[in-house]
This record gives sequence, structure tokens and C-alpha cells, in this order.
Amino acid sequence: MIQNNNKYEPKKNWTKLFNKVNEISYPAEGVIRIFKGKFPKLKLKFKKNQKILDLGFGDGRHILFLKNLGLNVFGTEISSDIVDKAKKNFKSLSKNFNIGTSDKINFKSNYFDILLSWNSCYYMNPNDPFNFKKHVKEMNRVLKKNGLLILSIPKKSSFIYKNSKKIKNGYRVIKDDYFKVRDGQIMRCFGNKLEIEKSFKKNFRNFIHSSIDINWFGLDYHWHILIAKKK
Ligand SMILES: C[S@@+](CC[C@H](N)C(=O)[O-])C[C@H]1O[C@@H](n2cnc3c(N)ncnc32)[C@H](O)[C@@H]1O
Repeated sequence: MIQNNNKYEPKKNWTKLFNKVNEISYPAEGVIRIFKGKFPKLKLKFKKNQKILDLGFGDGRHILFLKNLGLNVFGTEISSDIVDKAKKNFKSLSKNFNIGTSDKINFKSNYFDILLSWNSCYYMNPNDPFNFKKHVKEMNRVLKKNGLLILSIPKKSSFIYKNSKKIKNGYRVIKDDYFKVRDGQIMRCFGNKLEIEKSFKKNFRNFIHSSIDINWFGLDYHWHILIAKKK
């Protein structure tokens, strides 16, 4: 194990990345399939005007897609620049975006019908990097009873963890990030899907698991997907 003395500054790195980006990306195929597809283990039910939180929305690539489904879309990001950019890009929703992190979601309790955290909930705050419990507590807090949680989390075999170092049980520091944004970021790294379920089962039930496993031209996109209901 190694000491946590790194000086990683997530706000600086992500803000720099999103400041450079002029176009909004397309929604992830997995998100489209979850909301629009019908599968033996999943027929997602949602109603028009239900409130959805896009936690760590990035460039906002899911915002218009979710809005077009009739959902009332809210979002958080970690810096004022990233939030302001989304406010500019999605003017009609600008009141719905806040600065926040997975361990401090800046919204009222029992507020959302759905919480989407697509590749974001496992990014740990450098000031409290081994407290994933706090993330679970926050996601639970802002969801209504029976609210839906939708998560994507990289598998240990994902390209993101290549050359990463274990810093504590269940936590790894990213090294040699292919996209050069995450070097030094501590992430909650799960051994398998049941370990994820274990972290959430105090507050959530009806777990549905799925998985993405592709090698995309040399990058291992290996992801756990989890859908659950708040108790
Ligand atoms: C891989 S990007 C995913 C963005 C978006 N969800 C998407 O699918 O395009 C990870 C995002 O997590 C955000 N992030 C970093 N640390 C975070 C934290 N502690 N809590 C919540 N989000 C965080 C970053 O700003 C970044 O936008």
C-alpha cells in the first residue's frame, strides 16, 4: 500500500478538459438502452416530469436525451466553470444545475425519482478519499422512497485501472490515465458486482446487474452497471 500524499486537483483537471471541449458528446449507448430498451431483466418505468439527477454530468451529454424523454432534469458538477457551461448550453434548465460532489450533493432530501451516476460515483474527494459510505448516504438522501438508482462503475479490469496502485482495501490511485485527466485520482474500486451490492444494500433493494465488456480498439471498456430501488 502507498501513502495518500498526492496533490491531485479534480476541479482543475476536469474544468480544463471541459473548457477545451466545444461540442457536447453523444449520450452513452448504455444510458440510451437503459431508458429506451426492453430486456428480460429490465423494463425501466418512469413517468413524464419525474425528477432525475445527473450526478457528475460532465459535458452534459445525457441532459438533452433525458429531457426529451419528458423527465425534469437536474444536475451537479464539481466546479463553477463546468456548471456555468451547462447553464449556457441548456438555458431552459439553468436553475436546475448546482455545484456538488458525490459526498455532498447540493439538493434537498427525498427530492429525486431517479439518480443517474454514469461514471462518476466512484471518484473520491481528495479531502476524504476513503469514505465511499458517504457517497452511498448522499445518493440515498436525495432520492425519494422507491426512487431509482442507476450507476456505471468500472471493473477492476477496465483500462482506467491499468497501472493503478492499491492505496487501501477497495481504493486505487490512478496512474498513466490514457486520457490524462485522472492521474492521482483515488477511486473506489470494487472486486465484483456483489461487493457493489454490499455497499448499497443497507439503503437499496431490488438490485439488477448488467455489464459492459468490450475491447474498443485497444481500450478495455469493462463496466459494472447497477440499477436499484431506494428502500
Ligand atoms: C468520466 S466523467 C463522466 C461524465 C458524465 N457522467 C458522462 O457520462 O459523460 C466523470 C465526471 O465525474 C466528475 N467528478 C469528479 N469527481 C467527482 C466527485 N467527487 N463527485 C461527483 N462527480 C465527480 C467529473 O467532473 C467528471 O465530469
